[in-house]
Amino acid sequence: MTNLAVDICGLRMKNPTMLASGVLDETGKSMLVVAKAGAGAIVTKSIGKEPRVGHSGPTIVELPQALLNAMGLPNPGIEAYAAEIAEAKTAEVPIIGSVFGGSEQEIAELAKNMQEAGVEAVELNLSCPHAKGYGAEIGSTPEMVETICRAVKETVTIPVFAKLTPNTSSIVSLAKAAEKGGADAVVAINTLKGMVISPEAKMPVLGNRYGGLSGPAIRPIGVRCVYEIYEAVSIPVIGVGGISTGREAVEYLMAGAKAVQIGTAIWKEGPEVFGKICREIQDFMDEFGYTKLSEMTGVAHHGRT
Ligand code: DHB
Repeated sequence: MTNLAVDICGLRMKNPTMLASGVLDETGKSMLVVAKAGAGAIVTKSIGKEPRVGHSGPTIVELPQALLNAMGLPNPGIEAYAAEIAEAKTAEVPIIGSVFGGSEQEIAELAKNMQEAGVEAVELNLSCPHAKGYGAEIGSTPEMVETICRAVKETVTIPVFAKLTPNTSSIVSLAKAAEKGGADAVVAINTLKGMVISPEAKMPVLGNRYGGLSGPAIRPIGVRCVYEIYEAVSIPVIGVGGISTGREAVEYLMAGAKAVQIGTAIWKEGPEVFGKICREIQDFMDEFGYTKLSEMTGVAHHGRT
């Protein structure tokens, strides 16, 4: 039996799968369900300073190979969410607190609140593709990414992960900026900004008009981003985007990811997808003679010029 364990910035994971932010992570109870289903770590919902109700509906559109969503960063606010983290912490997996904010001070303050709530690391949502004043609106330039990462690093002692947007001409520049600002790891990618129009209704389907595209359709973009980032930075890369099988997780690992996040696959397959993906990674390793995950990390770069 091969070993799927991996250590990311001191976070000890029994396997390389993490729950991606935004799915089944609104409550402590739902996070416990995901941990029980086999996730190696849990990323919380993106939490802000104050409670937010989010956008009016429709908030999600199902497409053949993707989902388009614009929830509007709904969350109970950091103060109320601390109780959910306390409950999630009873699971035996690392909990990573995701935060969003409108300025580096606000994000740093939220990261501190997350640390006080007991999370093992913080993930900065610098990449929600459509929220006014948040996410990609403040995370699309290398200068801002560096400034925010530095402000957070000066405020917390736990590892800081920067979740980057692919809605840019150079995600590599954002990754380099995160590293320069002191981020301990980068997470790539968040959703792609998209729109669906109903020809009959003559209007965009989503209440917010624009949304974030996720699921199998974006996997080649995620894999490409991880591949490029891996060659440009020396901090760990966490891959996310369209993974629903072990083989697809291995694609990201071979592109250079040390761990992967799963979100949209849960929509179709439920939390059991974590156990399934881990078994399939294991089967792949057995079949091709790998004994450790590290033997697969970044191997797709070898022999290329
Ligand atoms: C939302 C946030 C995201 O970071 C994302 O990628 C998609 C949607 C939201 O809350 O609307």
